Amino acid sequence: MTIIRQSVEADFAAILTIINDASQVYRDVIPTDRWHEPYMPAEELTREMHTGGVVFWVAEEDGQVRGVMGMQDKGDVALVRHAYVASSTQRSGLGTRLLRHVEGGTDKPILIGTWAAASWAIDFYRRNGYTLVDDDQKDRLLRRYWSIPVRQIETSVVLGNARWVRAQAPTR
Ligand SMILES: CC(C)(COP(=O)(O)OP(=O)(O)OC[C@H]1O[C@@H](n2cnc3c(N)ncnc32)[C@H](O)[C@@H]1OP(=O)(O)O)[C@@H](O)C(=O)NCCC(=O)NCCS
Repeated sequence: MTIIRQSVEADFAAILTIINDASQVYRDVIPTDRWHEPYMPAEELTREMHTGGVVFWVAEEDGQVRGVMGMQDKGDVALVRHAYVASSTQRSGLGTRLLRHVEGGTDKPILIGTWAAASWAIDFYRRNGYTLVDDDQKDRLLRRYWSIPVRQIETSVVLGNARWVRAQAPTR
């Protein structure tokens, strides 16, 4: 049985393990100067949860946390952050279920940032109704809504959901 629920403090270790397990796919794919291990240090996760305002949701299968996804309210938009499914559980629909669940928690346009080289993640979001924003706009969005180094801006893409795309359409 799969349950999706907001994370609690007791999930911290499981969330950290899933992120650092699933992010191994970035090794040798993202620019080498951006790879570090662990990919998500515990202090960074603590910061994201307690001061960064990222609300984490977990997907539990048979009592075990198998996936995690965060949602960060940024005023006029909401960001999906830190989307990871345990490597042994990937491609079985759990990421899609988690995404649908976190999307249901906001009526704001949703943006997602990921590595330009993470073609599987881009594919995953496109299949779920997201559209890549053009290069000029993505730089502007990454600077405005994310706190990431310039080098990461250069090597990232941004996708927006249908509500985001509609909000960009010129009004007559
Ligand atoms: C991206 C991720 C969260 C998706 O969760 P998931 O449970 O695997 O996704 P779903 O099963 O709902 O959807 C699967 C679809 O996503 C894409 N996809 C996911 N993993 C993929 C992979 N390793 N290779 C190619 N496509 C992949 C494909 O379109 C796939 O459909 P297919 O299996 O029919 O080809 C998960 O694969 C993951 O944690 N990946 C590693 C970390 C990552 O890239 N996170 C995204 C950060 S923004």
